[in-house]
Amino acid sequence: GRVLLAYSGGLDTSCILAWLIEQGYEVMAYMANIGQEEDFEAARVKALGIGATKVFIEDLRAEFVEDLVWPCTQANLLYEGVYLLGTSIARPVIARKQIEIARREGCDYVSHGCTGKGNDQVRFELGYYALHPGIKVIAPWRDPAFFERFPGRQALLAYAAERGIPVAQTAAKPWSTDENLYHISFEAGILENPDTTPPKDMWKLTVDPEDAPNTPDRITIHFQNGKPVRVENAADGTSETDPLALFLYLNAMGRKHGVGRIDIVENRFIGIKSRGCYETPGGTILRAAHVDLEGLTLDREVRRLKDGLTQKLAEIVYNGFWFSAEREFLMAGVEHSQRAVNGAVKIKLYKGNVIIEGRSSPTSLYDEKIASMDEAGGFNPSDSEGFIKIQAIRLKAYVAQQQQIAKH
Ligand code: ARG
Ligand code: SIN
Repeated sequence: GRVLLAYSGGLDTSCILAWLIEQGYEVMAYMANIGQEEDFEAARVKALGIGATKVFIEDLRAEFVEDLVWPCTQANLLYEGVYLLGTSIARPVIARKQIEIARREGCDYVSHGCTGKGNDQVRFELGYYALHPGIKVIAPWRDPAFFERFPGRQALLAYAAERGIPVAQTAAKPWSTDENLYHISFEAGILENPDTTPPKDMWKLTVDPEDAPNTPDRITIHFQNGKPVRVENAADGTSETDPLALFLYLNAMGRKHGVGRIDIVENRFIGIKSRGCYETPGGTILRAAHVDLEGLTLDREVRRLKDGLTQKLAEIVYNGFWFSAEREFLMAGVEHSQRAVNGAVKIKLYKGNVIIEGRSSPTSLYDEKIASMDEAGGFNPSDSEGFIKIQAIRLKAYVAQQQQIAKH
């Protein structure tokens, strides 16, 4: 059979590639460029050297931004109140292209290098099955024939040496990472003790806020239908409208000012608690700006409902159900709400902080006259008296009930 392997160029997937060939498969390698730092051409040469019959390197950066990052921004997506889902939202776009190539190249199997303990195996495979119900999946890290033969890094290194697989000379970092243009994650290794403070040099996408410039940058983000359409910085003359360029500019600003680091313990779908550190510079700025603009433009009750949905939606996406009826259903509602979310948010970036300095909208719900303390603006203050008295009916009944309970 023919296999399309999601290949990273690293030790694990290189050994998986060699091992699959050893099992008698024809293996093609697939690499998704989603903005991670990587020498793709060196990886191509390496995969062909190991015996891949073809190598596909796909630039998915623009579709990642437009199809995943933008909708998640509209939804203010956040898992367990802190995690911006940077790894979770990359999986659908990687799986989608992998299935497209597998179909085109007549592969009966797809394969990946995820462990059997994590979220990523679930996300990839739910994506594969949703997009290609007949596809077969090979997950070597769940196959005893593989994991019993390679119980640790030493066994993989020995196999690589035996098979002539080049191994990068750089010493392995004492944690594992997953990177794309939206974020980087750090997990495992020395981070497994949740009380171990990560070393300063672990962080990669942002400067330490302590080392960030003493002078802030001021930028303005313009939104249309809840999607960013322009970012401006008057000081350096920036005006980006292309989605990828716009997002990368936010990343550069976030990096410079140390924005978007978190260190958390989260609940994996599979039931395991896991400690992770994440950097999401541009995404952190974007979410703050979008949430702010919704304050000006969203109806109060829509906002309440949407905030509730956001939590549910974050769980759906975290758990790997991007290609599901429930995700489409909830996002259709989000999309509808965003017709009102137009305008600009002014932001100051300073030593790890995203500070909002003002906002405006052509489709605002804010009424300066009504809000004003200085004029009536068509609002009759005496109306509030009845409003409060009616609201108090329940409170008075409750006090009376408390007295009954005490005597009972
Ligand atoms: N815990 C995060 C998540 O589930 C990050 C996972 C990182 N994945 C990886 N293969 N290193 O989204
Ligand atoms: C893995 O286990 O492959 C990485 C961690 C995760 O997917 O949650």
